[in-house]
Amino acid sequence: MAPSNNMDAFRELLASSRHIVAVAGAGLSAASGIPTFRGAGGMWRKYNAISLATPEGFKANPSLSWQFYHYRRETALRAQPNNAHRALSAFSLPTIRQQISPGSTFTLITQNVDGLSQRSNDQIAAMFPEEGNTADEKLQLIEMHGKLFDVSCTAKDCRHVEYNTKSPITEALGGTELLVEHGTLDPDIPLEDLPRCSKCGSLARPGVVWFGERPFHLDDIDKLVEKADLCVVVGTSSTVYPAAGYAMEVQENGGKVAVFNLDRSEGDEEADYLFLGPCEETLVQAFGLTIPENGKISVNTPSE
Ligand code: APR
Ligand code: ZN
Repeated sequence: MAPSNNMDAFRELLASSRHIVAVAGAGLSAASGIPTFRGAGGMWRKYNAISLATPEGFKANPSLSWQFYHYRRETALRAQPNNAHRALSAFSLPTIRQQISPGSTFTLITQNVDGLSQRSNDQIAAMFPEEGNTADEKLQLIEMHGKLFDVSCTAKDCRHVEYNTKSPITEALGGTELLVEHGTLDPDIPLEDLPRCSKCGSLARPGVVWFGERPFHLDDIDKLVEKADLCVVVGTSSTVYPAAGYAMEVQENGGKVAVFNLDRSEGDEEADYLFLGPCEETLVQAFGLTIPENGKISVNTPSE
């Protein structure tokens, strides 16, 4: 049966679901000015993923790879969470979620490394101080592909990881983001001018998961997916595994799947619900939220 785009029916499903997971991708951050990977103007259309986002590519030319990740760091630092991030953060907050899906649990599993969901969670938690606990304790977020702002040591006997939002991350990389933006990369930044481990001084790498590497938190995610009765898929082409397989697993376990995407994506014809359009609009509608420019997010009453 073709997926439904009946928003009222989806809201009823949301209200009766008990264990909800969301799986998000680059489309979630598109409205924040972060390019996606495979869509129009996507990063993998402009740059070579194999040479920039694989352990082998980094080993062969860390300067190229670091310029690419420096560019992505600078882009993410300039970006702000959008209403799709905020809608998911609000739904993560027990006070808000209780009004939409009473008694349910929720975890956001993101493939994004830009840190915008975490920033949005922090902003929302600050808006609801009465909730007491910090964002991390309450708002369940799993960054399965790591973090752009984590810097990891490449030395086997060290592996020190540090959260670092320094801009530029090294003097030598400063300004290269403009080159990258125009699709060119400066091949000759000396190794010693690239990011180094603050503990042992060895070459450091971005704390993200590269093609061919094992994503983070897979055991936790597997437990959540096994238990889930609703999987909300947001802004992903559903082409990269294991993330692309979670929705089908939930459905095979008798759960439901709802896809929120700008364009058609892999396997969406199997979903129970499909809402095509910008997720910064469709998610807000689906959760029945009002997100004012300034001020507190609230849940619309049924008549609204
Ligand atoms: N709202 C909803 N969806 C959107 C929006 C938007 N505003 N803008 C773009 N999209 C959709 C596109 O239609 C596309 O299907 O987001 C999807 C982005 O797909 P990809 O670019 O393939 O990104 P993603 O699915 O996150 O890639 C998965 O691949 O490159 C690796 O590790 C990287 O995490 C990434 C993984
Ligand atoms: Zn080290």
